[in-house]
Amino acid sequence: MANRVSFCQSSLSSKNKKPEKNRENKELSEETLRLLKILEKENWEIKNFLVRSYKALPVSPESKKKFYDYFISHSAFSVATTANPATSIITELLYDGEKLNLSSPIDEYFLLSKAGRSIKERLKVVKEELPKVIEEYRQKRKDRKVLIGNLGSGPGRDVIEVLAAHYSNTSDVRAIHIDKDEFALERGKLMAQVKKVGHLIEFIKGNFLKYNPSKKFDIVLLIGILCSLDFETCVVILKKVKKILKKDGCLIASNVSKKMFEEDPFTYHLMRLGKWKMVFKDEQELKEIFRKAGYEVKRYFTDSYGFHIMCVGTPRSYF
Ligand SMILES: C[S@@+](CC[C@H](N)C(=O)[O-])C[C@H]1O[C@@H](n2cnc3c(N)ncnc32)[C@H](O)[C@@H]1O
Repeated sequence: MANRVSFCQSSLSSKNKKPEKNRENKELSEETLRLLKILEKENWEIKNFLVRSYKALPVSPESKKKFYDYFISHSAFSVATTANPATSIITELLYDGEKLNLSSPIDEYFLLSKAGRSIKERLKVVKEELPKVIEEYRQKRKDRKVLIGNLGSGPGRDVIEVLAAHYSNTSDVRAIHIDKDEFALERGKLMAQVKKVGHLIEFIKGNFLKYNPSKKFDIVLLIGILCSLDFETCVVILKKVKKILKKDGCLIASNVSKKMFEEDPFTYHLMRLGKWKMVFKDEQELKEIFRKAGYEVKRYFTDSYGFHIMCVGTPRSYF
Protein backbone atom coordinates (compact mmCIF):
# COMPACT_ATOMS: atom_id res chain seq x y z
CA MET A 1 0.00 0.00 0.00
CA ALA A 2 2.99 2.26 0.57
CA ASN A 3 3.45 3.29 -3.03
CA ARG A 4 -0.21 3.64 -3.99
CA VAL A 5 -2.43 6.57 -3.18
CA SER A 6 -6.19 6.66 -3.05
CA PHE A 7 -7.77 8.37 -6.07
CA CYS A 8 -11.11 9.23 -4.49
CA GLN A 9 -12.33 8.30 -1.05
CA SER A 10 -15.71 6.95 -2.03
CA SER A 11 -17.33 4.32 0.15
CA LEU A 12 -19.72 3.07 -2.55
CA SER A 13 -19.93 -0.69 -2.84
CA SER A 14 -18.21 -1.93 -6.01
CA LYS A 15 -20.62 -4.83 -6.62
CA ASN A 16 -22.78 -4.97 -9.74
CA LYS A 17 -21.48 -1.78 -11.25
CA LYS A 18 -19.86 -1.08 -14.59
CA PRO A 19 -16.03 -1.03 -14.47
CA GLU A 20 -15.99 2.75 -15.08
CA LYS A 21 -18.17 3.36 -12.04
CA ASN A 22 -15.99 1.11 -9.87
CA ARG A 23 -13.03 3.27 -10.67
CA GLU A 24 -13.97 5.79 -8.02
CA ASN A 25 -12.75 3.23 -5.53
CA LYS A 26 -9.57 2.36 -7.36
CA GLU A 27 -6.20 3.54 -6.22
CA LEU A 28 -3.88 5.09 -8.73
CA SER A 29 -0.39 3.75 -9.14
CA GLU A 30 2.68 5.85 -8.52
CA GLU A 31 3.27 6.00 -12.29
CA THR A 32 -0.25 7.31 -12.92
CA LEU A 33 0.05 9.97 -10.23
CA ARG A 34 3.39 11.02 -11.71
CA LEU A 35 1.87 11.32 -15.20
CA LEU A 36 -1.04 13.40 -13.87
CA LYS A 37 1.35 15.65 -11.98
CA ILE A 38 3.47 16.26 -15.09
CA LEU A 39 0.37 16.91 -17.20
CA GLU A 40 -1.02 19.28 -14.61
CA LYS A 41 2.03 21.49 -15.09
CA GLU A 42 2.37 20.94 -18.83
CA ASN A 43 -1.23 20.98 -19.95
CA TRP A 44 -3.94 21.22 -17.33
CA GLU A 45 -6.80 20.57 -19.80
CA ILE A 46 -5.31 17.24 -20.85
CA LYS A 47 -4.95 16.15 -17.25
CA ASN A 48 -8.52 17.20 -16.54
CA PHE A 49 -9.82 15.27 -19.55
CA LEU A 50 -7.94 12.15 -18.48
CA VAL A 51 -9.24 12.27 -14.92
CA ARG A 52 -12.83 13.01 -15.93
CA SER A 53 -12.96 10.37 -18.66
CA TYR A 54 -11.38 7.81 -16.31
CA LYS A 55 -14.07 8.52 -13.73
CA ALA A 56 -16.72 8.29 -16.50
CA LEU A 57 -17.72 11.92 -15.93
CA PRO A 58 -19.04 13.93 -18.89
CA VAL A 59 -16.41 15.43 -21.19
CA SER A 60 -17.01 18.00 -23.92
CA PRO A 61 -16.21 17.28 -27.59
CA GLU A 62 -13.75 20.23 -27.45
CA SER A 63 -11.76 18.72 -24.59
CA LYS A 64 -11.82 15.29 -26.26
CA LYS A 65 -10.51 16.80 -29.50
CA LYS A 66 -7.77 18.63 -27.60
CA PHE A 67 -6.84 15.37 -25.91
CA TYR A 68 -6.56 13.50 -29.22
CA ASP A 69 -4.53 16.35 -30.74
CA TYR A 70 -2.16 16.12 -27.78
CA PHE A 71 -2.18 12.30 -27.73
CA ILE A 72 -1.08 11.85 -31.34
CA SER A 73 1.37 14.75 -31.39
CA HIS A 74 3.12 13.84 -28.13
CA SER A 75 3.42 10.08 -28.10
CA ALA A 76 4.87 7.43 -30.40
CA PHE A 77 2.70 4.76 -28.74
CA SER A 78 -0.44 6.78 -29.39
CA VAL A 79 0.37 7.40 -33.05
CA ALA A 80 1.09 3.72 -33.61
CA THR A 81 -1.95 2.36 -31.80
CA THR A 82 -4.47 4.84 -33.24
CA ALA A 83 -3.20 3.97 -36.74
CA ASN A 84 -3.28 0.20 -36.12
CA PRO A 85 -4.11 -1.18 -32.65
CA ALA A 86 -2.68 -4.62 -33.55
CA THR A 87 0.68 -3.32 -34.72
CA SER A 88 3.84 -4.97 -33.45
CA ILE A 89 5.40 -1.50 -33.26
CA ILE A 90 3.76 -1.22 -29.83
CA THR A 91 5.15 -4.51 -28.56
CA GLU A 92 8.54 -3.71 -30.02
CA LEU A 93 8.61 -0.29 -28.28
CA LEU A 94 7.74 -2.02 -25.01
CA TYR A 95 10.41 -4.72 -25.49
CA ASP A 96 13.06 -2.24 -26.47
CA GLY A 97 11.87 0.83 -24.58
CA GLU A 98 15.26 2.06 -23.52
CA LYS A 99 15.76 3.11 -27.15
CA LEU A 100 12.72 5.41 -27.02
CA ASN A 101 13.16 9.14 -26.87
CA LEU A 102 11.38 9.64 -23.58
CA SER A 103 10.57 13.30 -23.82
CA SER A 104 6.90 12.32 -23.92
CA PRO A 105 5.25 11.78 -20.52
CA ILE A 106 2.67 9.48 -22.12
CA ASP A 107 5.32 7.23 -23.69
CA GLU A 108 7.25 7.21 -20.45
CA TYR A 109 4.03 6.25 -18.67
CA PHE A 110 3.29 3.34 -21.03
CA LEU A 111 6.83 2.05 -20.57
CA LEU A 112 6.80 2.29 -16.78
CA SER A 113 3.23 1.15 -16.17
CA LYS A 114 2.73 -2.36 -14.84
CA ALA A 115 0.83 -3.35 -17.99
CA GLY A 116 3.67 -1.99 -20.13
CA ARG A 117 6.36 -3.77 -18.15
CA SER A 118 4.37 -7.01 -18.25
CA ILE A 119 4.80 -7.19 -22.05
CA LYS A 120 8.56 -7.39 -21.58
CA GLU A 121 8.03 -10.01 -18.88
CA ARG A 122 5.86 -12.01 -21.31
CA LEU A 123 8.74 -12.02 -23.80
CA LYS A 124 11.09 -13.14 -21.04
CA VAL A 125 8.95 -16.10 -19.96
CA VAL A 126 8.23 -17.18 -23.56
CA LYS A 127 11.99 -17.21 -24.17
CA GLU A 128 12.43 -19.37 -21.06
CA GLU A 129 9.63 -21.83 -21.84
CA LEU A 130 10.01 -22.23 -25.62
CA PRO A 131 13.37 -24.08 -25.46
CA LYS A 132 11.76 -26.62 -23.07
CA VAL A 133 9.04 -27.36 -25.63
CA ILE A 134 11.59 -27.46 -28.46
CA GLU A 135 13.67 -30.00 -26.52
CA GLU A 136 10.56 -32.13 -25.82
CA TYR A 137 9.91 -32.30 -29.57
CA ARG A 138 13.55 -32.90 -30.45
CA GLN A 139 13.38 -35.97 -28.19
CA LYS A 140 10.18 -37.12 -29.89
CA ARG A 141 11.44 -36.75 -33.47
CA LYS A 142 13.77 -39.45 -34.82
CA ASP A 143 15.60 -36.92 -37.01
CA ARG A 144 15.58 -34.34 -34.13
CA LYS A 145 14.16 -31.76 -36.54
CA VAL A 146 11.63 -29.25 -35.22
CA LEU A 147 9.72 -26.67 -37.26
CA ILE A 148 8.22 -23.67 -35.46
CA GLY A 149 5.42 -21.52 -36.89
CA ASN A 150 5.45 -18.01 -35.42
CA LEU A 151 2.00 -16.74 -36.47
CA GLY A 152 1.43 -12.99 -36.32
CA SER A 153 5.11 -12.90 -35.48
CA GLY A 154 5.77 -9.19 -35.92
CA PRO A 155 9.57 -9.27 -36.34
CA GLY A 156 9.56 -12.47 -34.26
CA ARG A 157 11.97 -11.34 -31.59
CA ASP A 158 10.98 -14.23 -29.26
CA VAL A 159 11.96 -17.00 -31.70
CA ILE A 160 14.98 -15.11 -33.06
CA GLU A 161 16.42 -14.73 -29.57
CA VAL A 162 15.70 -18.36 -28.63
CA LEU A 163 17.37 -19.66 -31.81
CA ALA A 164 20.33 -17.32 -31.30
CA ALA A 165 20.76 -18.40 -27.67
CA HIS A 166 20.37 -22.17 -28.13
CA TYR A 167 20.32 -23.35 -31.74
CA SER A 168 22.63 -21.22 -33.87
CA ASN A 169 25.01 -24.17 -34.35
CA THR A 170 22.44 -26.65 -35.64
CA SER A 171 20.08 -26.57 -38.60
CA ASP A 172 17.61 -28.94 -36.86
CA VAL A 173 15.46 -26.19 -35.37
CA ARG A 174 13.94 -23.85 -37.90
CA ALA A 175 11.11 -21.35 -37.96
CA ILE A 176 8.68 -19.68 -40.30
CA HIS A 177 7.47 -16.23 -39.29
CA ILE A 178 4.20 -15.13 -40.86
CA ASP A 179 2.79 -11.65 -40.61
CA LYS A 180 0.78 -9.34 -42.82
CA ASP A 181 3.02 -6.42 -41.88
CA GLU A 182 5.89 -6.22 -44.36
CA PHE A 183 7.81 -3.66 -42.28
CA ALA A 184 7.72 -5.92 -39.21
CA LEU A 185 9.07 -8.82 -41.27
CA GLU A 186 11.80 -6.65 -42.75
CA ARG A 187 12.87 -5.69 -39.22
CA GLY A 188 12.74 -9.37 -38.23
CA LYS A 189 15.02 -10.35 -41.13
CA LEU A 190 17.56 -7.74 -40.03
CA MET A 191 17.31 -8.81 -36.38
CA ALA A 192 17.86 -12.44 -37.39
CA GLN A 193 20.86 -11.52 -39.56
CA VAL A 194 22.42 -9.48 -36.78
CA LYS A 195 21.90 -12.40 -34.36
CA LYS A 196 23.37 -14.79 -36.99
CA VAL A 197 20.27 -16.98 -37.29
CA GLY A 198 18.92 -15.55 -40.55
CA HIS A 199 19.56 -18.91 -42.29
CA LEU A 200 17.20 -20.67 -39.84
CA ILE A 201 14.14 -18.48 -40.37
CA GLU A 202 11.86 -17.94 -43.33
CA PHE A 203 9.75 -14.75 -43.34
CA ILE A 204 6.41 -14.89 -45.10
CA LYS A 205 4.12 -11.94 -45.71
CA GLY A 206 0.46 -12.91 -45.54
CA ASN A 207 -2.59 -13.85 -43.52
CA PHE A 208 -1.70 -16.86 -41.36
CA LEU A 209 -5.35 -17.96 -41.43
CA LYS A 210 -4.96 -18.62 -45.16
CA TYR A 211 -1.50 -20.17 -44.93
CA ASN A 212 -1.23 -23.54 -46.63
CA PRO A 213 2.21 -24.97 -45.84
CA SER A 214 3.96 -27.83 -47.59
CA LYS A 215 5.12 -29.05 -44.15
CA LYS A 216 3.08 -28.88 -40.94
CA PHE A 217 4.51 -27.33 -37.80
CA ASP A 218 5.74 -29.14 -34.69
CA ILE A 219 5.20 -26.01 -32.59
CA VAL A 220 2.99 -22.99 -33.26
CA LEU A 221 3.26 -19.70 -31.37
CA LEU A 222 0.31 -17.31 -31.20
CA ILE A 223 1.61 -14.55 -28.97
CA GLY A 224 -0.32 -11.29 -28.66
CA ILE A 225 -2.90 -12.35 -31.24
CA LEU A 226 -5.97 -13.50 -29.28
CA CYS A 227 -5.95 -10.63 -26.74
CA SER A 228 -8.37 -8.37 -28.61
CA LEU A 229 -10.67 -11.14 -29.84
CA ASP A 230 -13.85 -12.55 -28.33
CA PHE A 231 -14.18 -16.16 -27.16
CA GLU A 232 -15.85 -17.58 -30.32
CA THR A 233 -13.40 -15.86 -32.71
CA CYS A 234 -10.51 -17.35 -30.72
CA VAL A 235 -12.08 -20.81 -31.08
CA VAL A 236 -12.37 -20.37 -34.87
CA ILE A 237 -8.71 -19.26 -35.08
CA LEU A 238 -7.45 -22.18 -32.99
CA LYS A 239 -9.42 -24.62 -35.15
CA LYS A 240 -7.77 -23.18 -38.28
CA VAL A 241 -4.33 -23.35 -36.65
CA LYS A 242 -4.91 -27.06 -35.96
CA LYS A 243 -4.86 -27.69 -39.70
CA ILE A 244 -1.27 -26.47 -40.00
CA LEU A 245 -0.08 -28.20 -36.83
CA LYS A 246 1.15 -31.82 -36.77
CA LYS A 247 -1.19 -34.32 -35.08
CA ASP A 248 1.00 -34.44 -32.00
CA GLY A 249 2.18 -30.84 -32.38
CA CYS A 250 2.08 -28.13 -29.74
CA LEU A 251 0.28 -24.79 -29.70
CA ILE A 252 1.39 -22.03 -27.34
CA ALA A 253 -1.15 -19.17 -27.31
CA SER A 254 -1.26 -16.12 -25.08
CA ASN A 255 -3.99 -13.82 -23.82
CA VAL A 256 -4.10 -10.85 -21.47
CA SER A 257 -5.55 -11.81 -18.09
CA LYS A 258 -8.31 -10.12 -16.10
CA LYS A 259 -5.67 -9.38 -13.48
CA MET A 260 -4.19 -6.78 -15.83
CA PHE A 261 -7.46 -4.88 -15.96
CA GLU A 262 -8.00 -5.20 -12.22
CA GLU A 263 -4.50 -4.10 -11.23
CA ASP A 264 -3.78 -1.48 -13.87
CA PRO A 265 -7.11 0.02 -15.01
CA PHE A 266 -5.68 3.46 -15.74
CA THR A 267 -3.28 2.09 -18.35
CA TYR A 268 -6.19 0.27 -19.95
CA HIS A 269 -8.14 3.52 -19.94
CA LEU A 270 -5.30 5.19 -21.89
CA MET A 271 -5.13 2.20 -24.21
CA ARG A 272 -8.87 2.42 -24.91
CA LEU A 273 -8.55 6.13 -25.69
CA GLY A 274 -6.00 5.02 -28.29
CA LYS A 275 -8.49 2.46 -29.68
CA TRP A 276 -6.41 -0.37 -28.24
CA LYS A 277 -9.09 -2.81 -27.12
CA MET A 278 -8.58 -6.00 -25.11
CA VAL A 279 -10.81 -8.92 -24.26
CA PHE A 280 -9.33 -9.96 -20.92
CA LYS A 281 -9.70 -13.67 -20.24
CA ASP A 282 -8.89 -15.77 -17.22
CA GLU A 283 -7.06 -19.06 -17.30
CA GLN A 284 -10.32 -21.08 -17.33
CA GLU A 285 -11.64 -19.17 -20.35
CA LEU A 286 -8.41 -19.65 -22.29
CA LYS A 287 -8.38 -23.37 -21.44
CA GLU A 288 -12.03 -23.59 -22.54
CA ILE A 289 -11.15 -21.94 -25.88
CA PHE A 290 -8.48 -24.63 -26.37
CA ARG A 291 -10.91 -27.43 -25.45
CA LYS A 292 -13.70 -26.11 -27.66
CA ALA A 293 -11.29 -25.85 -30.59
CA GLY A 294 -10.29 -29.52 -30.11
CA TYR A 295 -7.07 -29.28 -28.12
CA GLU A 296 -5.98 -31.02 -24.97
CA VAL A 297 -4.52 -28.47 -22.56
CA LYS A 298 -1.15 -29.68 -21.27
CA ARG A 299 -0.25 -26.77 -19.01
CA TYR A 300 -0.07 -23.01 -18.82
CA PHE A 301 2.40 -20.43 -17.62
CA THR A 302 2.25 -16.69 -16.97
CA ASP A 303 4.58 -13.71 -16.92
CA SER A 304 5.85 -12.55 -13.54
CA TYR A 305 2.90 -10.12 -13.10
CA GLY A 306 0.30 -12.73 -14.04
CA PHE A 307 -0.96 -10.29 -16.70
CA HIS A 308 -0.48 -12.73 -19.61
CA ILE A 309 -1.52 -16.36 -19.66
CA MET A 310 0.23 -18.69 -22.09
CA CYS A 311 -1.71 -21.91 -22.63
CA VAL A 312 0.08 -24.95 -24.05
CA GLY A 313 -2.00 -27.58 -25.85
CA THR A 314 -1.92 -30.39 -28.35
CA PRO A 315 -4.61 -31.38 -30.90
CA ARG A 316 -7.13 -33.82 -29.40
CA SER A 317 -9.42 -34.24 -32.39
CA TYR A 318 -7.76 -33.56 -35.67
CA PHE A 319 -10.67 -32.04 -37.61
C1 LIG B 1 0.64 -7.43 -31.10
S1 LIG B 1 1.59 -7.95 -32.41
C2 LIG B 1 2.43 -9.33 -31.68
C3 LIG B 1 3.73 -9.66 -32.36
C4 LIG B 1 4.51 -10.83 -31.78
N1 LIG B 1 3.77 -12.08 -31.85
C5 LIG B 1 4.94 -10.57 -30.36
O1 LIG B 1 4.47 -11.25 -29.45
O2 LIG B 1 5.78 -9.70 -30.15
C6 LIG B 1 0.41 -8.76 -33.46
C7 LIG B 1 0.93 -9.07 -34.85
O3 LIG B 1 0.04 -10.00 -35.47
C8 LIG B 1 -0.09 -9.66 -36.82
N2 LIG B 1 -1.35 -10.30 -37.29
C9 LIG B 1 -2.56 -10.26 -36.70
N3 LIG B 1 -3.44 -11.04 -37.37
C10 LIG B 1 -2.76 -11.57 -38.41
C11 LIG B 1 -3.12 -12.48 -39.46
N4 LIG B 1 -4.36 -12.99 -39.56
N5 LIG B 1 -2.17 -12.85 -40.35
C12 LIG B 1 -0.92 -12.35 -40.25
N6 LIG B 1 -0.51 -11.49 -39.27
C13 LIG B 1 -1.42 -11.11 -38.37
C14 LIG B 1 -0.05 -8.14 -36.84
O4 LIG B 1 0.32 -7.66 -38.12
C15 LIG B 1 1.02 -7.87 -35.77
O5 LIG B 1 2.30 -7.81 -36.33
